[in-house]
Amino acid sequence: MITRREYLKQTALAGCGLALTRATAAEPNAQIEGRGSLKAHAHKRGLLAGCAVSAANLHEDAFTRVLAEQYDLVVAENAMKFGPIQPKPDSYFFDDADALVAFAERHKMKVRGHNFVWHEQLPAWFAGTATKENARKILTDHIMTVASRYKGKIQSWDVVNEAINVSDGRSDSLRKSPWLELMGPEYLAVAYRTARQADPKAKLTYNEYGIENESEDDARKRAATLELLKRLKAAGVPLDALGIQSHISAGKGQTFGKGLRELIDGAQSLGLEVYLTELDVNDDAVENNDIAACDQIVAGMYRDYLSVALENKAVKAVLTWGMTDAHTWLNGIKSHKEKQPNRPQRPLPFDAEYKPAPAFFALRDALDHAPRR
Ligand code: G3I
Repeated sequence: MITRREYLKQTALAGCGLALTRATAAEPNAQIEGRGSLKAHAHKRGLLAGCAVSAANLHEDAFTRVLAEQYDLVVAENAMKFGPIQPKPDSYFFDDADALVAFAERHKMKVRGHNFVWHEQLPAWFAGTATKENARKILTDHIMTVASRYKGKIQSWDVVNEAINVSDGRSDSLRKSPWLELMGPEYLAVAYRTARQADPKAKLTYNEYGIENESEDDARKRAATLELLKRLKAAGVPLDALGIQSHISAGKGQTFGKGLRELIDGAQSLGLEVYLTELDVNDDAVENNDIAACDQIVAGMYRDYLSVALENKAVKAVLTWGMTDAHTWLNGIKSHKEKQPNRPQRPLPFDAEYKPAPAFFALRDALDHAPRR
């Protein structure tokens, strides 16, 4: 059994590409269940630990056992999005979302709702049906129907997802999404006000990606995001939280610091809570093909990111976008298939065999070092 000091020294060395066998990198405190679980360590600091879940995996005992043991917050990876939940203009498909909400209730877990308004995963009927005249009704009917069904059961809703796209060139940096084209910028206020009316208890969240690292692109998008949040709050739009998706990458020299701190401080100064909503570490750019070394580099990114992101007590929850590498969306994206077709991604706390990866211990360690909320 190695000491914690030895473990941290070894993992630091591993971060320089020195390969470690998984055994020697095993966390000394190998108990990962009960008081060793992510949710237990998060709870001690007043935080929630969660992950995204695909309804298909709820039929698998091995999956649900780890899920219930480790997390106290879940979010549907796809089941509550516009397309999957309203596949036809006049009919909804709630089975998958209902199954996740029921599972969460059985296991006394909280649920995040994701999401009402996005430019992706709109249903096939939308493009041929929505017009400037009926888009508002389509949107409000959708939100009222879905939010009312889960009223009182949702800890927070991602009401609007990814509305900023600086490269679209608008002065307000809004993405030229179907919603903007059809309704103009007021689609945001309409969505949040409708969600508040449908479920007054849910924390209404604005969720965004590409606002985490110290690059110029992320800095520009952070500034635009904060400006949007300020405009919404100044207009009296009901908004309670900022979701920072936290899709980060290893092997690209990404660093985290002043910009991320200022974003979180800015959200806090607007009276918002902050959730890290979709954390995972894309490892395609890691040159080292030694799995153990790659795992340590991914774990190092968890440590680097969370050591900054969790400093501010306004941050109340950390969710990874998936629980196990077996189900990560990252293996399905074009860039992965082009760059690393033969090396499955290892971005999450549990590997494809549901064993805790070094990222699990890095995440748990970061929770332990977070100021108590
Ligand atoms: O369900 C259908 C299935 O019936 C069909 O046979 C299959 C093949 O076409 O597609 C299935 O739908 C796929 C869906 O995931 C469920 O697996 C969609 O094609 C696929 O596009 C969709 O990808 C999701 C992606 O959002 C959509 O953009 C990913 O699973 C999901 O992880 C990802 O999540 C997003 C967040 O919602 C927002 N933040 C970024 C994050 C990553 O893109």
